[in-house]
Amino acid sequence: MSFDVDALRSQFPALAQEGLVYLDNAATSQKPQVVLDAMAQFYAQDNANVHRGAHRLSARATRAFEGARHTLAKFINAPASEALIFTRGTTEAMNLLANSLGAMVLGPGDTVLVDEWAHHASIVPWQQAALRAGATLLPIPLGRDGRLDLAAYERLLADQPKVVVLTQISNALGARAPLGSWLPMARAAGAITIIDGAQSVAHDVIDVQALGCDFFAFSGHKMYGPTGIGVLWGRRDLLDAMPPYQFGGEMIHQVSFNQSSFNQLPFKFEAGTPAIAEAIGLAAAAQWLQGQDRQALIAHETALLEYARLRLSELDGITLYSAFEDNAGALAFNVDGEHHQDVGVWLDQAGIAIRCGHHCCQPLMAALAVKGTCRLSVAAYNCRDEIDRFIAALTDYVEFLYDDA
Ligand SMILES: Cc1ncc(COP(=O)(O)O)c(C=O)c1O
Repeated sequence: MSFDVDALRSQFPALAQEGLVYLDNAATSQKPQVVLDAMAQFYAQDNANVHRGAHRLSARATRAFEGARHTLAKFINAPASEALIFTRGTTEAMNLLANSLGAMVLGPGDTVLVDEWAHHASIVPWQQAALRAGATLLPIPLGRDGRLDLAAYERLLADQPKVVVLTQISNALGARAPLGSWLPMARAAGAITIIDGAQSVAHDVIDVQALGCDFFAFSGHKMYGPTGIGVLWGRRDLLDAMPPYQFGGEMIHQVSFNQSSFNQLPFKFEAGTPAIAEAIGLAAAAQWLQGQDRQALIAHETALLEYARLRLSELDGITLYSAFEDNAGALAFNVDGEHHQDVGVWLDQAGIAIRCGHHCCQPLMAALAVKGTCRLSVAAYNCRDEIDRFIAALTDYVEFLYDDA
């Protein structure tokens, strides 16, 4: 299978808008027509609530919804689809874990490790769980080279943390965590391991069994799927032992006013009516991705990011924060002496969408000693011409500054 970026782009209706250069894919990606069609088809033909109707429409909706679970389990090579929980996204998955697993395993004096480039979605739920348990949340710091500090990690692991949360690809930097060696180290220290895959799911082929983590979380909207849906996959024995996170319909087995018993996996963690159309849309996105030549997509994105990095490094007055060889998806930079927001507004006037701010990574921004950065992030449908237009607009900005000086 060969890779044709124009053919790929034509499948995304939002990209047909005149003048738009969309380079904010780490925030959310655009959606291919097949995803929109799958959701529209569900509402037009199969709409009913799942798991509880006696009628044929409900049976069809249930089949489509559980089929989506099965598709997504295959997408990440999960051994069983019962251990795949639908959530609203990575944030809800992390809250589920911090509340439920946190209550089960954390006690006074325990530690939880989270990498310093983590998104607030990984930090804050565990910070709150640690507070409740009398435990301590500790950052795995960045080293001087801007990578996570191996020596510090080894020291932190020596205290036998209960939980280690690692971000596979940093949304703010595009940098990659060395999971191949770091996950076995965490396991050897007796920690339960959680991977934030919010960014990696769009750029890597995910295999949770090969990774060897205990939990893996991701959001649908960053991998060409809809908003409002995501996945938490977990080790079955742990999920079985964990208490429910939210309570209500669907997640119960038997209810009386005195007591309730709870449903089996995955329903124990899916209280209330789920996001049915969104789950179906997410499965369509996964199938769409699997239908592509993934290696060609990865090679295209890598080459594009490297091209952007080279072009950026040719400009005067630019500080790059993530010039790592193994970056994926995103590049962070600032125009020296300029507020990141001003750069973003200028680029927007040229039709170019990037993200400017702290990227929900305030501890990382503190470590980098900046208030925020500009971030360009690519998806498989981006092309060189878009990077050129971005560089041209940024060059205008820098020249405008120097003219003004
Ligand atoms: C690395 C990372 N983790 C977690 C999240 C939170 O994802 P969501 O807002 O979809 O729950 C994001 C979103 O930007 C992210 O990039």
